[in-house]
Amino acid sequence: MTTNYAGLQSVIWNDDKLDLLDQRLLPEEIVYLPLTTSGDVWEAIRHLKVRGAPAIGISAAYGVVLGSRDELSVEAWLEQVNKQAEYLATSRPTAVNLFWALDRMKSAAARIANKDLSLEESKAALLTEAIAIQSEDEETNRLIGEHALSLFKDDMGVLTHCNAGGLATAKYGTALAPFYLALERGITLRVFADETRPVLQGARLTAFELQQAGVDVTLICDNMAGMVMSKGWIDAVIVGTDRVAENGDVANKIGTYSVAVLAKAHGIPFYVACPLSTIDLGTPTGAEIPIEERGAEEITEGFGKRTAPQGIKVYNPAFDVTPNEYVTAIITEKGIVEAPYNVNLRKLFE
Ligand code: MRU
Repeated sequence: MTTNYAGLQSVIWNDDKLDLLDQRLLPEEIVYLPLTTSGDVWEAIRHLKVRGAPAIGISAAYGVVLGSRDELSVEAWLEQVNKQAEYLATSRPTAVNLFWALDRMKSAAARIANKDLSLEESKAALLTEAIAIQSEDEETNRLIGEHALSLFKDDMGVLTHCNAGGLATAKYGTALAPFYLALERGITLRVFADETRPVLQGARLTAFELQQAGVDVTLICDNMAGMVMSKGWIDAVIVGTDRVAENGDVANKIGTYSVAVLAKAHGIPFYVACPLSTIDLGTPTGAEIPIEERGAEEITEGFGKRTAPQGIKVYNPAFDVTPNEYVTAIITEKGIVEAPYNVNLRKLFE
């Protein structure tokens, strides 16, 4: 099915380079950075020029292609692909899509190297794999949107946190996909976007992309979520995730856990939308998910001026873990999964 979605594409493979939308500059400036090396891609991921779990994975896949173009034999090329994948894996720790995409690139390269192709053919085949990762994500998100939309009715108020939209993926997003489909089908959803301190993905990105599309979106500060819930304005919460553990614990942008607790206190369903590539059956519980900590300046100078005393101690975890008992359902491209997650998530992969 085709849709009218016309959001900005965050990752574009352009002939022989990667054009990456610099998400740090949004919403004020729309700038595409031409990336030509895997080092460029590592730096872009690390410094949030590209962010959001699926977009990080897609970019890293192209990063492997960029980092393995100069080799002179198929053997050296394969070795370089593996090296570049290990290198790109050090860019950020929490989103499992990064490691999923890099593993997929390594497996593809190993298969390709066994095929008796020329060096140029091998390189082209690996690029095809990266392009497939990106285009599959698009279709996956559309399916997630269809499943998520089945949970929403006309005129519902839905709160979201961070940005799990088109900007964070190949297209449509995960948590934001149902809003785009609703728009096309004449279903009105009133979206509330948490601003998402300290990096403001909700204000800069979610509010921006939903407003551009014509979705009814209201921006609130993170500390207003309880208030709007108590007013009865919120019928459901939907968020994305960076990694779902085997038991259904969910790592997502810092502040998600607070929203989940608030939702439970108000009897509001809390939904998590993600592709299967975000479900990590190899991580038993949320306690084993590595949580990235970022620089103090995101908190002390996040608004372009100093807002805290010099020398202040700062704790800045970029993600938190929402325990599975707060998660009403996990929405994937293969359908909607409820507890017991340790049984039902596994079934998705059968
Ligand atoms: O630090 P970020 O901006 O990469 O964090 C992004 C999130 O937490 C998203 O909710 C998550 O990656 C899902 S994106 C579909």
